[in-house]
Amino acid sequence: MICDTDCNCDDKSVIDLFESKELVTMCAPMVRYSKLPFRMLVRKYGCDVAFTPMIVSHSFIESQKARDVDFSITSGDNPLIVQFAARNAKELADAAEIIYRHSDGVDLNCGCPQRWAIADGYGACLLNKPEMVEDMIKQVKRRIPCTKYSVSLKIRIHQDLRKTVEFCQRAEKAGASFITVHGRTKVQRNEKVNMEAIKLIKENVSLPVVGNGDVFHLRDAYTLQGYTGVNGVMSARGLLQNPSLFAGAEMTSSDCIQDWINISLSLGNSFTNFHHHLMYMLEGVMSKHERKLFNSYTSLACVIDHLSSCL
Ligand SMILES: Cc1cc2nc3c(=O)[nH]c(=O)nc-3n(C[C@H](O)[C@H](O)[C@H](O)COP(=O)(O)O)c2cc1C
Repeated sequence: MICDTDCNCDDKSVIDLFESKELVTMCAPMVRYSKLPFRMLVRKYGCDVAFTPMIVSHSFIESQKARDVDFSITSGDNPLIVQFAARNAKELADAAEIIYRHSDGVDLNCGCPQRWAIADGYGACLLNKPEMVEDMIKQVKRRIPCTKYSVSLKIRIHQDLRKTVEFCQRAEKAGASFITVHGRTKVQRNEKVNMEAIKLIKENVSLPVVGNGDVFHLRDAYTLQGYTGVNGVMSARGLLQNPSLFAGAEMTSSDCIQDWINISLSLGNSFTNFHHHLMYMLEGVMSKHERKLFNSYTSLACVIDHLSSCL
């Protein structure tokens, strides 16, 4: 399918990827974490598609400053899905219109369980508003002229799975490009991910389904796909701990740490983001004492010094 609009999408559209790849690997949207430098790192290690952190559409539309803070890209940062927290169709479509030339799709957050989000009409409360979500998908599709630009949802599951299946079927009918299912309800935190639910959803829709939850190794991704038949898998905490997960590495290698340093320096990453990611990546290999020391560093020089003694 050729796209003749002036949008960003090329042969790397997510819609095409689902057609050409057995299993599409994805880096989850993560507030404060799935920013440009980290996206570039995971892409280097076999991650096909990356999401931005959740961006509140209202602020994004209203303020240039919010846009500059929330969104940055560079060449090679694609396919890129921009995730929005939106509470009505106009907000989502307005935000999509601003961003579509610089991204490959928009995703609507229907899973954020935080109290502030639910109180403001964002995130998981949309799971109980299927008609509105349908309208949101339709309006984005109407406004964005590019047929390869994806419009997707990331959901949690309902207690009553029939509601989730119906929700997904309605989204499909409205024209959603794919759905990511985090296999937990909005009140679940560390419970085991419900693979049965993901399987049920996959069996009852025709659009691509991405499974999410507890993928910490490449073998977890294949287990999830084998059990549920999903078209893609998404990881959040697994990639934070080991950005080379989708390349099959068991843990973060020193090469990967070195890549993180190089990417962070070349893109001018903030010290806080650089340091926070390293704390995740090194969590499993440092003793409690070393971790405490490492976490206390407040300058790039201290961190690099520490790392050069162990890399
Ligand atoms: C630090 C962090 C930030 C997150 N931020 C978002 C977000 O912005 N949008 C979203 O839909 N989910 C967010 N999540 C949830 C993840 O995308 C994912 O659904 C959840 O962690 C389950 O996947 P996992 O078992 O691979 O971690 C976040 C999770 C973490 C750990």
